[in-house]
Amino acid sequence: VPESIPQDESRPVRVAIVGVGDVGSTFAYALLLSGLAAEIVLIDANRAKAEGEAMDLNHTVPFTHPTRIWAGDYTDCAGAAITVLTAGAKQKPGQSRLDCLQANARIWREIVPQIARHNPRGILLVATNPVDVLTYAALKLSGLPAARVLGSGTILDTARFRFLLSQHFGVDARSVHAYIIGEHGDSEVPAWSLANIAGMHLPDYCRAQGLPYEPEQMQKIFESTRDAAYHIIERKGATYYAVAAGLLRITQSILRHQNTVLSVSSLIEDYCGISDLCFSLPTVVDRGGIQRVLRLELDKTETAKLRHSAAVLRETIAALDLS
Ligand SMILES: NC(=O)c1ccc[n+]([C@@H]2O[C@H](COP(=O)([O-])OP(=O)(O)OC[C@H]3O[C@@H](n4cnc5c(N)ncnc54)[C@H](O)[C@@H]3O)[C@@H](O)[C@H]2O)c1
Repeated sequence: VPESIPQDESRPVRVAIVGVGDVGSTFAYALLLSGLAAEIVLIDANRAKAEGEAMDLNHTVPFTHPTRIWAGDYTDCAGAAITVLTAGAKQKPGQSRLDCLQANARIWREIVPQIARHNPRGILLVATNPVDVLTYAALKLSGLPAARVLGSGTILDTARFRFLLSQHFGVDARSVHAYIIGEHGDSEVPAWSLANIAGMHLPDYCRAQGLPYEPEQMQKIFESTRDAAYHIIERKGATYYAVAAGLLRITQSILRHQNTVLSVSSLIEDYCGISDLCFSLPTVVDRGGIQRVLRLELDKTETAKLRHSAAVLRETIAALDLS
């Protein structure tokens, strides 16, 4: 059992959600349906929105699981096993995730210290974009140990990648093992050299099954993965179901101490010459948060791309004053 146990065994499992817009409210709904939390507190600068969401979710309880749900404030983060941060400005059509930075960094300076003060033993899980930079900012502004500050990172990109590969190869997405690493954003990197179906790398899989392996098709699949948010936002204005499911998967691995390997964002130290940045690598997530960031055997091109992604993030962080 890790040293930092986020929840007190004797009290109901509480999850706090800060920001109950599209992402936060969808996650709250998924969490309620999952039955993983006994208490869900909703916090939003728009108090009426948090109250409305709490009412609607409470009316869901008779169909689901006994759960206490209310609109609260930062004092209610006390004792939460996990505080999920989804507050802030979202991407508008044509905007990149990094474009949302300054507005969301201002919000972070206001809310993160309050959460850490009321809940020094819990885990912070960041979804707001740019998620890697804001995970790093949450780490610095909270003063919490690195193991207990993580971001949804490329969990969503990895899901999109596995889905598209599964469509191409005609197998269940759960049978496709492939990761997107680095920034959750334009510089993200597909770890092709590690992608496999039934333990076979994709070119080997194709050879063994008598299928063509088409590098251009693979590149298109990556581009559709990387650009998915732009295509969805153009059509429906926001993305929220898949990220909410990803947040739920992370929450489940923490609350049930599952040691699941997930491509979440966390503090990276001494990796391919990169240190003191948050981005995604396959990571073992347990009850203490980040148990271990896995060391990958990437090829030279992937390593160079990962270093480039890290450089993009470093430049962005340098523009922030986190003192
Ligand atoms: N990490 C991912 O994979 C991923 C995926 C989709 C969206 N996102 C990001 O999640 C964030 C939220 O997206 P959304 O679609 O839910 O946006 P939204 O506008 O629907 O909701 C944001 C909520 O934050 C609240 N808020 C704003 N300032 C606040 C403050 N100071 N304190 C508390 N609450 C505050 C707003 O009132 C609103 O309810 C965005 O940054 C978006 O880019 C991340």
